[in-house]
Amino acid sequence: MNATTAPVWAELTARAGAARDISIRALFDGEPDRLKRLCIAAPHVFLDASKEPLDRGAHDALLRLAAQTEALGFLQRAVRGDVVNSTEGRAALHTALRADTPPASIAGAIRDANARMHAFRRDLLSGAHAGADGKKIKTIVHIGIGGSDLGPRLVLDALKRFREPGIDVRFAANIDGADIVDALEGLDPRETLVLIVSKTFTTLETLTNGAYARDWLRAGLGQENVSRHLAAITAAPQKAIAWGVGENAVFPFWDWVGGRYSLWSAVGLSTMIALQEGAFDALKRGAAAMDDHALNALPEANAPLLSALCQTWRRLMGRASIATIPYSRRLALLPAWLQQLEMESNGKSVTRDGDALPMSAAAITWGDVGANAQHSFFQLLHQGYDSVPVDFIVIDETEGAHAHRVGLHANALAQAEALLMGKTRETAEAELLAAGMAPEAARALSAHKTFPGNRGSTIIGLKRIAPESLGALLAFFEHRTVLGAALMGINPFDQWGVELGKQLAVTIADGLQGRSARLHDPSTSAWIARLGQTAQD
Ligand code: F6P
Repeated sequence: MNATTAPVWAELTARAGAARDISIRALFDGEPDRLKRLCIAAPHVFLDASKEPLDRGAHDALLRLAAQTEALGFLQRAVRGDVVNSTEGRAALHTALRADTPPASIAGAIRDANARMHAFRRDLLSGAHAGADGKKIKTIVHIGIGGSDLGPRLVLDALKRFREPGIDVRFAANIDGADIVDALEGLDPRETLVLIVSKTFTTLETLTNGAYARDWLRAGLGQENVSRHLAAITAAPQKAIAWGVGENAVFPFWDWVGGRYSLWSAVGLSTMIALQEGAFDALKRGAAAMDDHALNALPEANAPLLSALCQTWRRLMGRASIATIPYSRRLALLPAWLQQLEMESNGKSVTRDGDALPMSAAAITWGDVGANAQHSFFQLLHQGYDSVPVDFIVIDETEGAHAHRVGLHANALAQAEALLMGKTRETAEAELLAAGMAPEAARALSAHKTFPGNRGSTIIGLKRIAPESLGALLAFFEHRTVLGAALMGINPFDQWGVELGKQLAVTIADGLQGRSARLHDPSTSAWIARLGQTAQD
């Protein structure tokens, strides 16, 4: 059963149509148990969905959708190792990487990979695995893109306070050469390890940056010393070895781990090395606690499920775009990570059986840190024509002075309250009159000082930014995404939508180098002529 065939779907669409007229404030008045019903304390994460335009009837209907689509059953099947990625014939077992007891068929492989990662970390930090002339490795240049980049980058940035001294990680993802040029700038090749992270080991961006870094090593160290400074994480070990990585420095990236769900695997090697001993394990422990909650909590007390239901409800109400605003400098990279997670997983238009969906399975996902975002795009959130639901992420314990914490919390709560309460034109006018403005001017200006309000949001609370709690938060979003896919009946683990552009880039690259004259649309042909010319200049 999927969204299209679930008996409750027609009721839900009717309710969503009517929900635009619901007053969220009135819901608080009319539902004394609202906070209790729509707030859930999960491990490390506290979810408050009470400001969503979701009345009891709609909430019940959404829970029926979860039951009819067997959303939690889909998650359970994934965790158990069923082939849930139907178009690629693969399992999606990222949860096994952080489980106490992974499925028996892969437990040994996970254990071995973990042991090798720990040993590699130890050897690198102790200097047992030293650079070509015996110097200790001081910097890892992590080269990968998409899921092979975003998770490790986010975790290392977020956990700055838990870093191992003496080892730095720089990232290069983009095929814009500026990325790898910047990453290598000022480094001594004798103290640098280049880590190629690519499940397929065919990704153009990664191989282009990798080749550039390998040339840089060769120029600095001589060909005979290059392989000592290379390591790889891949599901295609033979390709990595043929490329020049030593057999012992190739770590596994299994078929049953999707790219955007992979930070718990050896993809996290640079993260694990650059964090204090035990921090990477703590990250996984936090994720495992969230796994346990997502799999075992009752539907009405299940935080990722409630959040997935709210996401579905928002789209049913016609909200095409959702902003995620972490009130935390440490989570600055979360929106970018979430973008890939949500939009690459669920940005699809057909069910697992190939039937057309009645609505989008993912919202346009974007965001930036608060309070900075208040001073850029919040104007549109408050007074723009469209209502954009917001997920606020609020951290209980933050850094800096008491004044920082109070200011940060006050700002986050104020934005959510302002979206909800709004301000009527009458109130705006009365305020201006009270401030001494002439009646005619007050009337005119009040139109601009009116806030429609009644705009829904969710607050996701986290006690602190630490390995365990961060792991739980990231797993919360992973489960929300997979459950959201299950509610719509789609496959969240493939990404065919990225392929066409990759194919065309190959023929266009040929065209730019004058090697083929394949027909393109007139605009593209004109650009090939222009940029091909520039390349030759
Ligand atoms: O192009 C999208 C994508 O396939 C992502 O799903 C993946 O995370 C990324 O590219 C990188 O792929 P790879 O790890 O194979 O280099």
